[in-house]
Amino acid sequence: MTKRLGVGFVGSGFITRFHLQSWKTVRDADVLGVWSPNSENAASAAALARELDIGEAKPYASIADMVADPAIDAIWLCGPNHRRVENVEEIVHAIEAGKGALRGLACEKPLARNVAEAKHVTELVKRVGLVNGYLEDQLFVPPIERGRELTWARGAATTGRPYLARAAEEHSGPHNPWFWQGELQGGGVLNDMMCHSAVLVRYLLTRPGEPLSTVRPVRITSHIASLKWSRPEYAERLKAAMGPEVDYTRKPSEDFASMTIEFETDDGHTVLGEASTSWSYVGAGLRLSAELLGPEYSMSWRSLDSGLSVFFSREVRGEAGEDLVEKQNAEVGLMPVVASEASVYGYESENRHFVRAFLGLEKPRLTFDDGVEVMQMLMTAYQSAEERRTIDYPPPGVDDFIPAVARGTWKP
Ligand SMILES: NC(=O)c1ccc[n+]([C@@H]2O[C@H](COP(=O)([O-])OP(=O)(O)OC[C@H]3O[C@@H](n4cnc5c(N)ncnc54)[C@H](O)[C@@H]3O)[C@@H](O)[C@H]2O)c1
Repeated sequence: MTKRLGVGFVGSGFITRFHLQSWKTVRDADVLGVWSPNSENAASAAALARELDIGEAKPYASIADMVADPAIDAIWLCGPNHRRVENVEEIVHAIEAGKGALRGLACEKPLARNVAEAKHVTELVKRVGLVNGYLEDQLFVPPIERGRELTWARGAATTGRPYLARAAEEHSGPHNPWFWQGELQGGGVLNDMMCHSAVLVRYLLTRPGEPLSTVRPVRITSHIASLKWSRPEYAERLKAAMGPEVDYTRKPSEDFASMTIEFETDDGHTVLGEASTSWSYVGAGLRLSAELLGPEYSMSWRSLDSGLSVFFSREVRGEAGEDLVEKQNAEVGLMPVVASEASVYGYESENRHFVRAFLGLEKPRLTFDDGVEVMQMLMTAYQSAEERRTIDYPPPGVDDFIPAVARGTWKP
C-alpha cells in the first residue's frame, strides 16, 4: 500500500481551478491546501476543492507554512510567471531551514520567463533533492497519446519514421493583465503558448518509449508579429479591459508567432516541427490542433472537432460565458462544445501521472530539465524572430538572452 499524497496549490487562479476540476479523476491524492497572496481567493479555491470532494483543503498564510505542514507532501506551482523564482525560493528555503519536507514539486508552464530564471529554479530544486515535474498538459491529451501510439505502431513500424509534426494553439487573448505585459510574463504569445507546441512537436516525432533527447533541435526559424492588438482601436479596447498598464500603442507583445524547428534524430534523419500560436484567433474559442505525418500515413487532431455542438438562434439571449469552451467568443449560432475540458486538454492524465511520480510509482515524464530546454528553444525563437534569420541551436549566450518584448522595447 502506498501512502496518499497530500497536495497544496500555490495560486488560486484560472489554472488552479482547472487542476481542481481534473482532480475528480485522480486517485491516491487529496488537495489539502491553497496559498495565494489574496487570502479570500485562497479560501475560495480551497472551498471549491471541498465542494468537489477532492480533499479537505484549507487556505494557508504562507507558502512556507504549507511546506511546514506534514499533511502536505507535494506542491503544484500555479502562480504567475514573474513570481516563479520567489515561489521556488520560498519552498526551497523552508526545506533547507528544516521547517518541512516535500515529496514533489510540480510547476506549470513556462518554467520561468527566460533561461537564466529557469536554470536558477532548477538548481534550487536539485539542491534539496526535490523530485520535480514540469506541467505540460498537451503531452497528456488522450487523442494525442492514442494517435501517436497508433501512427508509430502501424505507420512508422512498417513504412518509416514520421518526418513532420505540426502543432498550434490559438485563442483570442489571455484573461488577466499580467499575461499581456512582456516584462511580467516574459514575452507575448510565443512565451505563453509556444512552450506547449514546441515540446508537443518534438514529442510526436519521438519514438514511444524513447527519451525526447533522441530527437535533437539543431536549427530554429521563427517569426513574431502584432497582428491585431496594436491596431489603435484594439489597443484602446485592451487598455479598457486590462487597465492602463497594458498599453499596446507603447509596449506591445506579439500576438502571433510561428516556429520551425529542424531536428536531427538518433536514427540519422532530419525531421521538422512546425508550430504556430496566436492571441488573434477569433473562432468559437480555444483551438488546439496537432498533426503527425510520415511516408505513408498521417494523424490529425483538433480540439474543436469535439463531437458535440449546440445551435442557438438569434432569439436566444444570454450572458457571455465560457460554458461551451475555454475562451469562448460567442453564444449564438452553431457552436462546438468541449464537454470535458479537463480531460481533453490533458489535465486529468497529467495529474494522475505526477501524483504517481511523486508517490514513487512512476518516473516523472517531464522534469524541470525539460522546462529549461523548452525555454532555451523559445529564447532561440525570439532571437531568430528579432534577427530575421535561422539560428543554430543552442546559440551562444542563450542563457542571458531576454527578448525585446520582455524588455518592453519591441517595435513590431
Ligand atoms: N497548462 C496550461 O495550459 C496553462 C493554462 C493557463 C495558465 N497556465 C500557467 O499557469 C500559471 C498561472 O496562470 P493562471 O492562468 O492561473 O493565472 P491567473 O492570473 O488566473 O492566476 C494567477 C494566480 O497567482 C496568484 N498570485 C499572485 N501573486 C502571486 C505570488 N506572488 N505568488 C504566487 N501566486 C501569486 C494570483 O492571486 C492568482 O491566484 C502561469 O504560469 C500560466 O502560464 C498554464
